[in-house]
Amino acid sequence: MAMKMGVLTGGGDCPGLNAALRAVVKHAERSGDSILGIKNGWAGLIQGQCEPLTEYSVSGILPKGGTILGTSRTNLFKNAETLQRGLANYSRFGLDALIAIGGEDTLGVALKLHEGGIKVVGVPKTIDNDLSGTDFTFGFDTAVYIATEAIDRLHSTAEAHHRVMVVEVMGRHTGWIAVYSGIAGGADGILIPEHPFDIAELCEQVKRRQSRGKDFSIIVVAEGAKPKEGGGITLTKGGARDEFGHERLGGISNIVGAEIERRTGIETRVTILGHVQRGGTPTPFDRILATRCGVSAVNQVHEGKFGTMVAMRGQTIVAVPLSEAVGQIKQVNMELFDVARVFFG
Ligand code: F6P
Repeated sequence: MAMKMGVLTGGGDCPGLNAALRAVVKHAERSGDSILGIKNGWAGLIQGQCEPLTEYSVSGILPKGGTILGTSRTNLFKNAETLQRGLANYSRFGLDALIAIGGEDTLGVALKLHEGGIKVVGVPKTIDNDLSGTDFTFGFDTAVYIATEAIDRLHSTAEAHHRVMVVEVMGRHTGWIAVYSGIAGGADGILIPEHPFDIAELCEQVKRRQSRGKDFSIIVVAEGAKPKEGGGITLTKGGARDEFGHERLGGISNIVGAEIERRTGIETRVTILGHVQRGGTPTPFDRILATRCGVSAVNQVHEGKFGTMVAMRGQTIVAVPLSEAVGQIKQVNMELFDVARVFFG
């Protein structure tokens, strides 16, 4: 029986979202179903903004960054009114099922909707790669590629000027981008949220390297990195928060850079990569993963596997319960960090 499926993209954008949308729409349409695109994540459901998506409307979007549907960090469960308006629009749209493409916040909302009786399938995405239940999320490989290229470029100028270069990458709760790009780019130190750092130890590493004749260093810092308590660095709290309660991060590398220069006497510069990591065309890996996720999501709807998320496990795409995906953050495993640490200092 032909179905009418809704699809939305929520949370921070990432390369691969359009590839996933194209896969959902083409696979659904070729199976005899129709797709309604909900604009700007949960905001579109609350405001009743949508547009029918066809093979024609998704043609040519595979390599494009961003999302043709738009996205937002709007929380459907912000209050009783937003929820009531969203549910009313869901009925008005006449949807048989909803495919929600997002990270922990978007999929957390999807889980609550499923618990309330709505037929939902989740598709994981985030450059942070911190969603549980899946080995990788699309967007991550592209972000690592961009960060690695930046580190390569910073290497030559660091060496020419005998400087320490501190590179800040994204990673609110986890250091996946930092560790992957740090290993790929040959970092001399990597700071991640999972492993509170000791600034004195970091400066020792930089000095040790200098004493071995290497008068330049590359330090990669995840934006969510935290100093050890009592280590002489305190972070200011109280920045702007989104509707899911997350603080806007960015800038810890300025504190780290200033402290390195003060303690080692080596001239230090800071580069914050920021949203550059989320923009532009996805890598082939992310295009393929996003395409596989989009096709599998439609299959899961056909098979009636609701309350699930498509997930990459090894070489296969499988269905996992949404509760497994949003229950807890997937942290960098210490075996991987230990590999990175071999090359520090
Ligand atoms: O959630 C992904 C992410 O890129 C985080 O790494 C980062 O902290 C956050 O989004 C930035 O969000 P915004 O685009 O709202 O500034």
